[in-house]
Amino acid sequence: MRILILGSGAREHAIVDALLAEDAGHEIVVAPGNAGIAAQVETLAMDPTDGVLVADYARDHRIDLVVVGPEAPLVAGVADPIRRHGIPVFGPDRAAAALEGSKAFAKRIMEAAGVPTGRSVHASALDEVAAALDDLGAPHVVKADGLAAGKGVIVTDDRDAALSHAEHYLQQGGVLIEEFLSGPEVSLFFFADGHDVLPLSPAQDYKRVGDGDTGANTGGMGAYSPLPWLDHDFGSEAAFVDEVRRTIALPTIRALEAEGTPFRGLLYCGLVLTPQGIRVIEFNARFGDPETQVVLPRLRTPLSELLLASAEGRLGGMPDPEFSDDVSVIVVLASEGYPENPLTGRELSGVGAPLPAGVTITHAATARVGDRLLTTGGRVLGVVATGTAFATARAAAYTALDGIGLEGGHYRHDIAERVS
Ligand code: AMP
Ligand code: GLY
Repeated sequence: MRILILGSGAREHAIVDALLAEDAGHEIVVAPGNAGIAAQVETLAMDPTDGVLVADYARDHRIDLVVVGPEAPLVAGVADPIRRHGIPVFGPDRAAAALEGSKAFAKRIMEAAGVPTGRSVHASALDEVAAALDDLGAPHVVKADGLAAGKGVIVTDDRDAALSHAEHYLQQGGVLIEEFLSGPEVSLFFFADGHDVLPLSPAQDYKRVGDGDTGANTGGMGAYSPLPWLDHDFGSEAAFVDEVRRTIALPTIRALEAEGTPFRGLLYCGLVLTPQGIRVIEFNARFGDPETQVVLPRLRTPLSELLLASAEGRLGGMPDPEFSDDVSVIVVLASEGYPENPLTGRELSGVGAPLPAGVTITHAATARVGDRLLTTGGRVLGVVATGTAFATARAAAYTALDGIGLEGGHYRHDIAERVS
């Protein structure tokens, strides 16, 4: 297949790796990509949010499938003109991508679908925020309604901090005050074709910047998959996945279909396992990053077939994707100052060195300038280790990280510790 992938992060790098691992002779182009992706496949300097440009390119180059990686192009509507050209595209149209782009829209769909989530109030003025904070009580959860690149959510006991966070985002279209949900978080992805869904294997993300879940929220500092403790809580991973499919993913996709906004792409269910049951904390309209980097190495079913079947509305009747029994761990290396003010343009060393078996590096924000590899963003790269046991996989990931140099670079030291 000729596959065009939009995006420039480690998630897109992991998608490329998974497609190459099929050994099916796919021709892959990534726009715009990064230094790690460019070392493996063709990259192209094209604005991934410009739908008309992308659609014209895909038609002119006889692309068989377009895969949209990040949320910004989806929310901007990149998929719409591609689909109008009759080209299969993995990623929802703008109207359905509002499931991620607007927390208020997501809450409305969840209500229509009867999906379990926290109580919430949408506020567009500060006095409404204050009343909702008092009504729902501490800890306070305030969320920007629109996209905020991982910075839109604050969870705090400090009422004044909650108010000032809300004040900032009120100017950008409103906020959601939500009931605090307590329990372990799970990321579970589903392929969706507008009507049917197929599940991937669950992962856990580490959102806070510091060890022991301290410090600011980030886009994700590490992840692991699968989650062995689900066996204890739910009997088996399959039982857990099945409950989420039945009570969350399928009703959501059917509610979107009923509204005339069919969702074809990746439904990311961000879940909290509360003592009262599973609750949705957020939906995203694309693969999670860094969770994808630990889920796809375990996928045994060819990824290209699942992406294309989702884009073409053919998931119904297909068997569930198969996963290996291997475990996978990713540790993310971030720039000095991330997430508040990442310092970029610094040189990385040691990235080209030979890696132990089962270890790969997914690039997130890198560019090659001459023979130097420079950082271009906050999350720089992730070291992914896949193997038969968490203890050895995480040790391999940290050993490989020791060999990488970046002034001011930092990473968490406790990724997958609880399962090792
Ligand atoms: P989100 O961007 O909605 O995923 O929120 C980022 C992080 O904030 C989540 O991964 C949770 O750790 C935390 N969070 C969001 N909503 C809640 C909530 N209602 N209760 C507790 N923590 C939350
Ligand atoms: N890792 C969280 C996300 O992809 O939104």
